[in-house]
Order: sequence, then C-alpha cells, then structure tokens
Amino acid sequence: MDKNYYITTPIYYPSAKPHMGHAYSSIIADFFARFKRIDGYKVYFLTGTDEHGLKIQRAAEKKGVEPLAFCDEISKTFKNLSKTLNLTNNDFIRTTESRHKKSVQYLWEELKKNDDIYLSKYSGWYSVSDEAFYNEDEIEDLDNKKVAISSKSPVEWVDEESYFFRLSKWEKPLLEFYEKNPDFISPASRKNEVISFVKSGLKDLSVSRKSFSWGIKVPNDNEHVIYVWLDALTNYISALNYPNKDDELYKKFWPASVHLIGKDILRFHAIYWPAFLLAAKIAPPKKVYGHGWILSNEEKMSKSKGNILDPLEIIKQYGLDPLRYYLIKEVSFGNDGNISQERLEDCINSDLANNFGNLCQRVSAFVIKNCGSKVPEKIKFENDDIKILNEYSQNLDKLRSEIDNQNINYYIDYIVNRLFEANKYFNDQEPWRKKDDKIRLNTIVYTTLEIVRKVAFLLYPIIPQSSIKALKIFNLEEKDVIFQSVGNNEFLKKGSTINKIDILFNKIEKEND
Ligand code: MSP
Repeated sequence: MDKNYYITTPIYYPSAKPHMGHAYSSIIADFFARFKRIDGYKVYFLTGTDEHGLKIQRAAEKKGVEPLAFCDEISKTFKNLSKTLNLTNNDFIRTTESRHKKSVQYLWEELKKNDDIYLSKYSGWYSVSDEAFYNEDEIEDLDNKKVAISSKSPVEWVDEESYFFRLSKWEKPLLEFYEKNPDFISPASRKNEVISFVKSGLKDLSVSRKSFSWGIKVPNDNEHVIYVWLDALTNYISALNYPNKDDELYKKFWPASVHLIGKDILRFHAIYWPAFLLAAKIAPPKKVYGHGWILSNEEKMSKSKGNILDPLEIIKQYGLDPLRYYLIKEVSFGNDGNISQERLEDCINSDLANNFGNLCQRVSAFVIKNCGSKVPEKIKFENDDIKILNEYSQNLDKLRSEIDNQNINYYIDYIVNRLFEANKYFNDQEPWRKKDDKIRLNTIVYTTLEIVRKVAFLLYPIIPQSSIKALKIFNLEEKDVIFQSVGNNEFLKKGSTINKIDILFNKIEKEND
C-alpha cells in the first residue's frame, strides 16, 4: 500500500500581510499532515509564497521598494505565521528562489519541445488582482468599471505579444482524465462547474507577459516573463527537486496526494495545472480540493470593507488551539463559513473546557486521590466498559476513510460524541461509590483513563499542543501518538504514574453568563 502522502497549501501572495483565509488553508493542511503522520505515513507538507507578477510588482511600487526587498519582508511574516500556527510543514518555498526558477524554466522548455508553446499576440482582459485572463463573457460593468463577474476584481485591457500554451489541444485529454479519476476535483459539488467550463471549449492560454519585468524570464527570450500562474503552480514540483526525477523526494511524493486550495483558484489547479503536466508528460496530482471562504460578519473579507480578520489577534486573545479547533469544527469543510467570536467562545467553554479539559482534570484528580496516583493494576472489564472501549477500535477504518474523503467534520463530530459518552460513563458508573469494590473501582478508572488517552490521541491533529499537554497525565509524549493505538484497550501500563496537569483551557466569562 502507498504509505506516502504529499499535501500542499496554495502559495500565498505576499502582497499584504496574512489574514484568516490564509491561516485557514494552512491549519487544515496541517491537520491532514499530522493525521497521516500518526497513521504511519511518510508525509511531505509544503507551503510558501508566490512572489512574481504584476500584482506584487505594483504593491512594491506603491511602497517605493524593489519587488524582492518587498517580498523578503512580507514572505517572512507568512513564514512566521507558519510557526505561530504550529504547522509541521517540511518546506517553505519562495518562487524567487533559484531552485524554483530552474524548475520553471525547465518545464517551459519541455512544453516548448513538445510544441505546446507558440508566439502570438494577446488582446483581451486581464485582472491584476486575480492574475487571470478573462473572456468577454466573463466581464461585467460595475460602478462604471469593468470587473470580472466571478471575483468582482477590476480588469484592464492588454494588447501585447505573448507566448501561448496550446490549452485547446488538451480539452479532450482533460475530460478523459476527469472521467478516469472521478475524485480528482473535490468536493464533488465543484466538479461540474469545472467540467462544463472545459466542455464549453478551451482557448489557448497566454503564458507570458512583455510589458513588465517582475517574473521568471522565458528561456531564450529575455523580453518576456513567464505567466505568474505557470510559474506558481510549478512550486509543487520544484520543491521536490523537479526536473531531477531520480531525486528521492520526487520519486516518493509525486504525484501529490492533495492540493488543498480555495474555491476561487480551482480553475488554475483543475484545468491549467493538469494540462501543463500532461503536456510535459508528468502525472497530474491525485486530488485538488477546493475549500470554501472564511467570511467575516457573513461577508467576504476585503480591505475596503475593513473586515479583515487577523489570525494573530484571535490567537493572542484566545490561544492557538481554540482557533484551530473552531475552524475545523465550525466551518462545514468545502463550504463557506463565518467566523463568529461568540461561537468561538462557546467552543472553548463547552467542548474544550467542559467536555475535554474537565474530563482530564476530574479523572486524573480522582486517580491521584483514590488510586495512589497509579494506573490501577487489578481490573476486570464488564460489558459497559468493553462497549465504550470497543467503540474506538471498531471505527478506526471508518475514520481513515472519512479523512481520505476530506470529511473532517465527521472526524471532529465523532470525537465530540465520544467526549459526551465518556463524561456520561464516568458519571453513571459513580466510581466514588465503589470504594468497597476495588476491582470495579479500578476497572472504571482504567477504562476512563484509556478513553482520555484515546481521545487525546484523536485530538492531536486538531489541537496538538493541548493534546500533548493532556498526555502528560500518562507521561506520554508526541512520539507515542499513533493512530492505530487508539484501538488498543490496554495501552496504559498498569502501575505507571498518573500526573496532575495544569488546566488545559480557561473558560471565557461571557457577559450574559
Ligand atoms: N498565489 C495564489 C495561489 C497560487 S497556488 C499555486 C493565490 N494566493 S492568495 O494569497 O490570494 O490566496 C491563497 C489562498 O488563500 C487561496 O486558496 C485562497 O482561496 C485563500 N483565501 C484567500 N482568502 C480567503 C478567505 N477569506 N477564506 C478562505 N480562503 C481564502 O491565490
């Protein structure tokens, strides 16, 4: 079985500092990377910044600095955010690095060699904000300005010599590829829009610009820079040292398991990218997953509306793990989701502090007081215990397959249900009334400790810091977290020490409480 897993985030434009939408893509990718690692996969997790093109050149000009100096500064804030979000990315690629430039130019030469690139002239609309070319029927008038219908971004007229990629030639092979790989475009709800776009006829794509210089030069034609999307998409293979196909990273991790992206950039990933790859005789990625938007006050974030959510501020106020938990639980993955401070506080109070934190405190305190701070030795499982314990082992494969379908809401809802069940079990079994029946008391305690341990393992991909903190109860560490052991009912060594731990989550006092 293929035990390698390669997951990527989009590479972010360092045109302004990171916002919650960027943090969202990264946190979700980290969730998958961590899950797969604890499930025994060799994981490669890539993120980075997309630094060329007119959008960046203009942003730098506005600040009066050279584009590279501008990118150095903002790319650093994205890199720092990766640390703040506790991401386990293996690499952070910048498209201004020479390793990347080499790959892009090589790919260009491959496309040229196969007669997929030719020189002509582009006359049409271009949106700098989207870095995208639009057809006449994709444009509308808004407040006396021409904008792209899909993104509402302003467009400008371009009339210049340009190299073209023969995208039209790949229409049929793309449709065949989608047919043979039904999961390639996910979620399924996004598939039809891509397929009907391709079926409506693909025009050749302009893949170079001549009127500005901030980009990777077209090989043997210094007057042109390569279209920023052809440049940017290549990051997914340049980070694996393409074109060196004998490279270990490339051999192990290409084709990627999932490119995680926002729904607005699906066309680039689900049409252009596989077409470039097919033309260069490289296997396309296995899946492209387009998630929804994070909304602020039910609206798309924008500078003009002044509703940009800064992940750093939320983290400062509530902590990182509550934010990770909230984004994974409260956004129905694949759809848009609003960030509401009130719902975030509810998650902290009810799920994290009451349901999980309290269970950890209550059970460890009970063991410290009544079992000499040790995992009980003499136990005898009864039906109630076996039933609650086996719930986990019976569902491991189900959880795995839901994760493979990116159904992260299933995964987290499963955990929340287990937590309710665990609290109920401890209350119903009333170990504090079993002081005369040591075996029963020990068995209830052992069962509850096992459940706390299992849940802490399951929570690791979502709230890694808090999971590791909770596992200190058992002197367990990050390296001990293995998904398969969630199914083990006697993982904890009898007689080993149980520690008191600090409060995991502080409850938020709410005005109406
Ligand atoms: N540079 C390109 C991606 C190139 S990938 C080869 C780009 N960059 S971006 O910075 O504009 O956006 C990066 C990602 O953030 C995209 O997937 C986009 O969908 C996502 N988001 C930007 N705003 C968002 C929200 N408000 N909510 C969720 N994600 C959104 O596009």
